[in-house]
Amino acid sequence: MNGRGTVRPPGDKSVSHRVLMLAALAGGTSELTGLLAGDDVKSTARVLRQLGVDISPIRDATVTVRGARLSEPAARLHCGNSGTTARLVLGILAGQRFEARLTGDASLRRRPMRRVTEPLRTMGAQIKEEGGDSLPLTIRGGRLHAFSYTTPVASAQIKSALLFAGLAGRVPVTIREPYLSRDHTERLLLHLGLDLRLHDGAIALRPSAGRVPPFRLAVPGDASSAAFLVAAAVLREGGELVVENVGVNPTRTGFLVVLERMGARVERLNLRDAGGEPVADLVVRPARLSGTEIAVAEVPALVDEVPILAVLASRAAGGGETVFREVGELRVKESNRLELIAANLRAVGVAAEARGNDLFVRGSDRPARGRVETAGDHRLAMAFAVLGTTPGAAVRLSERASVAISYPGFFRDLKRIGRAG
Ligand code: S3P
Repeated sequence: MNGRGTVRPPGDKSVSHRVLMLAALAGGTSELTGLLAGDDVKSTARVLRQLGVDISPIRDATVTVRGARLSEPAARLHCGNSGTTARLVLGILAGQRFEARLTGDASLRRRPMRRVTEPLRTMGAQIKEEGGDSLPLTIRGGRLHAFSYTTPVASAQIKSALLFAGLAGRVPVTIREPYLSRDHTERLLLHLGLDLRLHDGAIALRPSAGRVPPFRLAVPGDASSAAFLVAAAVLREGGELVVENVGVNPTRTGFLVVLERMGARVERLNLRDAGGEPVADLVVRPARLSGTEIAVAEVPALVDEVPILAVLASRAAGGGETVFREVGELRVKESNRLELIAANLRAVGVAAEARGNDLFVRGSDRPARGRVETAGDHRLAMAFAVLGTTPGAAVRLSERASVAISYPGFFRDLKRIGRAG
């Protein structure tokens, strides 16, 4: 295992949702390349089409979006498994003068929506709940008021929903958050030349009377998808892996910072810019890992990487312990990730526990063996599949199909890099 392999993660999920939505609001035709062809992004495209936007098939190398004045949908908007679709589209709909009903799959229907609907109501949208703090919901947008808000949690979905409401409803919006969450929306708005200002931790958008200009944009590779490939390469016994074209926006690369603290340095080559986002190729080699502590302030920049970091922590040498502080938000992701990470690590022989909102994982050199319940959560499936590639491991997943949400070619790539190593 001394070879050098190369692999390219699929397009960034967060950026893919946002560029589709911005292109839908644009006054003209936009051309998007590198878009993720995963189920969540297809949910966004489906919902935008139902609102009257013409979008070419998402699987095409270049996707064209003909921006339109949105129109009342003939049927309910089904957001599938995608929290980003539901919350960001609610923001867009807050600025439209028609009614729309949103729903999603069983997992999405369990996820909290008031974090978005409460501030949108204050801005002037009318929102009817059917089952409390969750989908289905009916929204009627309209004349919105200028709005200034501090989010209770560092969530890019809340922040983006409010920015999109300001953009669609043409009212100024100012947002503060307890810690900086991923800033793709801000970068895109700036890239498109809109009046967005960042000062003293506040994000202030002053939308103009005109529409968003149509644009061409290349979506970078997804840092969260790349994290699984990086982890697999760190856990191998030899070789070197180059993960090409990865978005390295600092609000997404907390994983690499923590990994370095655990003893694995990932080199960044060919640093460049794509549509206002930094992009690089990552060079990864195997490493002996130690335990670490992840502080609350670090969590937003690695919130989707806790499952794979927990898997890496379970391989720390000398029984070292890793603590993730204040990761309670993981209870309201695609599954109750906090409890399922701990329970699944225990199921494969690792000492792990969720205590309050903290997660504790002890390193072990015993091969991981057992059955993992993914609960249909793509990131749990991919994290434990990586654990299954470690020497002597025998990890059975309850299902594998969920990877199509964010990384349809995941198992093919994981197998390929295993062979290349
Ligand atoms: C996302 C924001 C994060 C993240 C999710 C995608 C986004 O959610 O977990 O996978 O694209 O804005 P929160 O905003 O709930 O933290």
